[in-house]
Amino acid sequence: MTTDEITDLLTGAYIDEFETVMNYQTNAIVLDGIHAEEVKTSLEEDIQEELDHARILGERLKQLDESPPGSESFEANQHSLQPPEDTTDVQSVIEGVLEAEADAIETYRSLIEAATEANDPVTEDVAVTILADEEAHRTEFRGFQKEFPMD
Ligand SMILES: [Fe+2]
Ligand SMILES: [Fe+2]
Repeated sequence: MTTDEITDLLTGAYIDEFETVMNYQTNAIVLDGIHAEEVKTSLEEDIQEELDHARILGERLKQLDESPPGSESFEANQHSLQPPEDTTDVQSVIEGVLEAEADAIETYRSLIEAATEANDPVTEDVAVTILADEEAHRTEFRGFQKEFPMD
């Protein structure tokens, strides 16, 4: 059985995935310098996965007889992922990505909890699958963070 909490979480997560796609794409384009190359390549790869997450979430909403939102529902939240003024500031992008991934992980954990409570194993499965990807993204960027230690 579905609940308002589940559809709200699915809808919010759908919007967040698109915001992530936009900011990862922008940062993959704007970063400069020798330290940026690996981060840019990694962002490009993750964009494809984040888009796939949005598709899976949208399809789940449809299966629950709801519609994924259009752009009029869009509300921007990822302030720390805006393109840096200094385009060689790879570290600020790494920090922004880690924050976005932490937010995503929190959302999918909440979705797992809500789905378990509502006895909705299909939504739970969707959330577990996506959570595994987000944890992998976090691990990848924690690795980059070690190369760029905070002072
Ligand atoms: Fe994602
Ligand atoms: Fe991610």
